Amino acid sequence: MRVILYTGKGGVGKTSLSAATGVRTAELGYRTLVMSTDAAHSLGDSLALPVGSDPVRVAHNLDAVEIDVNHELATHWASIQDYLSKFLASQGYDAVVAEELGIPPGMDELFSLMRIGDFQVEGNYEVLVVDCAPTGGTMRMLGLTELLEWYMDKFFEVERRVVRAVRPVAEKLMSTPLPSDEVYAAIGRFYSRIRGVRELLMDPKRTSIRIVSVPERMVIQESQRAFTYLGLFGFPVDAVIANRVLPPEVKGTYFARWRKIQEEQLGILDEAFKPLPIFPVQLFDREVVGVPALRELARAVFGTKDPAKVFYKGKALEVRAAGAGYDLSMPLPHAKKDEVKAWTKGDELIVSVGNFRRNLVLPRSLAGLEVTKARLDNGVFRVHFE
Ligand SMILES: Nc1ncnc2c1ncn2[C@@H]1O[C@H](COP(=O)(O)OP(=O)(O)O)[C@@H](O)[C@H]1O
Ligand SMILES: [Mg+2]
Repeated sequence: MRVILYTGKGGVGKTSLSAATGVRTAELGYRTLVMSTDAAHSLGDSLALPVGSDPVRVAHNLDAVEIDVNHELATHWASIQDYLSKFLASQGYDAVVAEELGIPPGMDELFSLMRIGDFQVEGNYEVLVVDCAPTGGTMRMLGLTELLEWYMDKFFEVERRVVRAVRPVAEKLMSTPLPSDEVYAAIGRFYSRIRGVRELLMDPKRTSIRIVSVPERMVIQESQRAFTYLGLFGFPVDAVIANRVLPPEVKGTYFARWRKIQEEQLGILDEAFKPLPIFPVQLFDREVVGVPALRELARAVFGTKDPAKVFYKGKALEVRAAGAGYDLSMPLPHAKKDEVKAWTKGDELIVSVGNFRRNLVLPRSLAGLEVTKARLDNGVFRVHFE
């Protein structure tokens, strides 16, 4: 299954481009699903068709779905929700509040990942287009894949072995209820799906992340940060869409100024994302709503190109022998020196950029070595181990 994921600042056109991409790939003959993971769903509005929490047919070859956390919890994860409510109640929340708080932060992202896993396993679709929440939400979702893996490894390795054996005693001693076997099993199933998703989303042959931007300074700055974070987590970006470009027929002094700004900013965008391909898209003379308009939008973006194609393959994390040790290099485009930090802890290298952090389990060749140098060099972070 091919995954195309759109991210970017709020309002730049992620939903429209996701829907347009789906309309086009469906037309090209791919069995396509467009999936909205943004809790503030607007995929149905964009298609001008009803879309729910299970895939519905919206055109030939084209299905759409909006992930609904409450629905997911109620239908598939009642056992976990029940446990969470009990857990919260034990922490002093009364039952009603606990019920309401039964959706901890991160659940949106978690269920979105799980559904991606489901669709991959079910194999009904050749193309999955993911309409993401704005930048921060996308990063939380993608970052979660690694965090979960890291946490689950520990959870199953340590807790399952130790805690399960002593649960009856432990539950009496502690005020916290422990998850039942059923919950463990549910978490286990969940985990195996998430794990496959991480592989899928990090594979540049199968997944393309596309950053939607607009030729305006503030939007570009956020796009650049998104690019940095995606580098940090090692997710493959293959294109940037520059949306809402004023077409030449827009005349008059009022817009002349905007045209000039956009021209400048398009230059900046080009420079900032080189050698990634940039797809400029003009501002339509109306809202882009409904399948025919979306088809038009797809044509404006991709022309005759197949949107399911991989448009660019960037560099990934790399480890190389260097001098008396090894160099690990991680692309961190646009990162600034003072926001990047790295340190080792056991067999992990922890790299943080701003609010985001990646725990990298080091390859065997590097574990136990000492970090002697780290520097940021032309958008690449190099850590030397000896
Ligand atoms: N190229 C465009 N020309 C005209 N309107 C656009 C264009 N791209 C998006 N829009 C409109 O802008 C609004 C926001 O787009 P949307 O796709 O919902 O953004 P996001 O999902 O990033 O928040 C929608 O009303 C959409 O129809
Ligand atoms: Mg949207």
